[in-house]
Amino acid sequence: MEHNIYAIVAADENNGIGKDGKLPWHIPNELKYFQDVTTKTEDPEKQNLIIMGRTTWESVPPPHRPLKDRKNVVLTRNPEYQADGAETFHDLDEAIHSADDSIESIYVIGGGQVFKMVFERSDLTGIFLTQIHQSHDCDTFLPEIPQRFGEPKNLGGEENDEVSYNYLYYGR
Ligand SMILES: NC(=O)c1ccc[n+]([C@@H]2O[C@H](COP(=O)([O-])OP(=O)(O)OC[C@H]3O[C@@H](n4cnc5c(N)ncnc54)[C@H](OP(=O)(O)O)[C@@H]3O)[C@@H](O)[C@H]2O)c1
Repeated sequence: MEHNIYAIVAADENNGIGKDGKLPWHIPNELKYFQDVTTKTEDPEKQNLIIMGRTTWESVPPPHRPLKDRKNVVLTRNPEYQADGAETFHDLDEAIHSADDSIESIYVIGGGQVFKMVFERSDLTGIFLTQIHQSHDCDTFLPEIPQRFGEPKNLGGEENDEVSYNYLYYGR
């Protein structure tokens, strides 16, 4: 079963994406965009699969996980690890191939280690990147966007008193 595989990420001007296991910023509209993109399906009978590293899973406040209306998958090397409400896998390829015909699309949602792995895959369909026009203190960074994606499409932007950002899409 072939599914489209997307990565979705928000990064600052220095490609920073995380600090101390958390997001370095709090931008409610951007979180809503993430929720909309990763939840929306054309077929109302289907859901999307979201794949994340164990650190990213633990960064989601417990009342908000699993992320609703999506099938949650957590990657860990620890065979004992349990993530309530999510399925765990020990290998990205196995996680991707777990998607059956109840799944419409696959979204890889981070963090840095998992983006690095998925960017190396030739079957990555596209990357949704929110470019945040600020610089933050970060300890986790987005790997370089693979060259094969070329110029991104600008899907629009938003700004408020504190921050401005653009939604980009890199497709094949
Ligand atoms: N800005 C954004 O859009 C965005 C999105 C997501 C996350 N983040 C941020 O990114 C940071 C987390 O990123 P991170 O790079 O530290 O961690 P991560 O990618 O979320 O998770 C790393 C963990 O995933 C597991 N893992 C990694 N490679 C694996 C493999 N090949 N096979 C099986 N399991 C594997 C390991 O879990 P075990 O240690 O359990 O083995 C590893 O410790 C946080 O600050 C988070 O807030 C930002």
